[in-house]
Amino acid sequence: MWRRTLKAAFGQPDATAHLLFLRDSQTVTRIHFLHAAAHLGVLAELKSPSGQEALASKLGITRSQQFGLFLKLGVSLGELADDAGTYRLKGRRAKALVGPNGNVLRALLDEQIEYHGSVYRELAEQLRGGPLGDYLSATAAVVAESSRIAEPVISSYVTDVVTGAGPTPRVLDIGCGSGVYLRAASQNAGATGQGIDMQPASVELTTKNLTDWGIGDRFHVTQGDIRKGASEADGPYDVVLLMNNIYYFAPEQRPALFETLRSLVKEGGTLTLVSMFHGTSPTALNLDLVLACTQGCYALVSPEELAPELRAAGFRNVTVDRLVARESLLGIRAS
Ligand SMILES: C[S@@+](CC[C@H](N)C(=O)[O-])C[C@H]1O[C@@H](n2cnc3c(N)ncnc32)[C@H](O)[C@@H]1O
Repeated sequence: MWRRTLKAAFGQPDATAHLLFLRDSQTVTRIHFLHAAAHLGVLAELKSPSGQEALASKLGITRSQQFGLFLKLGVSLGELADDAGTYRLKGRRAKALVGPNGNVLRALLDEQIEYHGSVYRELAEQLRGGPLGDYLSATAAVVAESSRIAEPVISSYVTDVVTGAGPTPRVLDIGCGSGVYLRAASQNAGATGQGIDMQPASVELTTKNLTDWGIGDRFHVTQGDIRKGASEADGPYDVVLLMNNIYYFAPEQRPALFETLRSLVKEGGTLTLVSMFHGTSPTALNLDLVLACTQGCYALVSPEELAPELRAAGFRNVTVDRLVARESLLGIRAS
């Protein structure tokens, strides 16, 4: 049988490419299955094994033929197991999607299928001069969640910077999103400070998180757009954070931004900026393209572009740190 399949494949003019496409299409099918299964609630329900009928009734599914095929597909992909009609989770990815970090992984799937999918569907029109995509508001929550994939590595970087800033540093987090990096700063027990975000939803989320994390008495958050100055900030600060948001600023807005940030950093203090930077990996270039195609976002920069801009704003020392191997996720410390 295999011999016949291989013979058929190698009978094609681009035999190897055919085989590669077949393999790639399985990856796409797996991603589609997991995305749909997470949204349907199938994965969450199958944390306890269940038969098809009971599962369908819990999830309000009425098309049993199609649902049966969907479950069989999950089994065929190795994401589900079928023990004589009782389904359970089997694959690592399926289990992780309903595990402790599942919300981040589900957001990563949503971001790729929905947001990136839209960019690629509309790319030809955009490249020929059509308007850039108005994706930002619809995808803000998903992107905020999916960017937490890098949280462990960035958090430990932030904790190191804030720990090195003395026993009682004051910290400002600009574009704080959910406030996760204020939590990292709070690992220095003497640290206090503030987050600023222009989105009311982020301010609300950070306020709630700071309370939930038990650090609401040391950190607070205010709404504000840093492009309009820093009137909300109660500076100067020992550490100013700009995490995963430099690509929201147009190149021509960056000099004014860096001057504002310089005015907020105490003499001897540090601006810490973390971002994916322009790179050559598929991950970096995909993000670069997606951002460049989104209204209100800009292509990724290189550290070589930013360093002179930071110096021009008055930062004398600029250090670049690579945060993960083989990817252009970098930290810049400017003082
Ligand atoms: C991708 S999220 C990153 C959030 C957080 N720093 C993190 O790394 O998890 C970018 C955040 O920056 C905020 N932001 C973008 N431009 C801003 C500006 N000009 N002033 C204040 N906040 C801004 C957005 O509202 C959003 O919450």
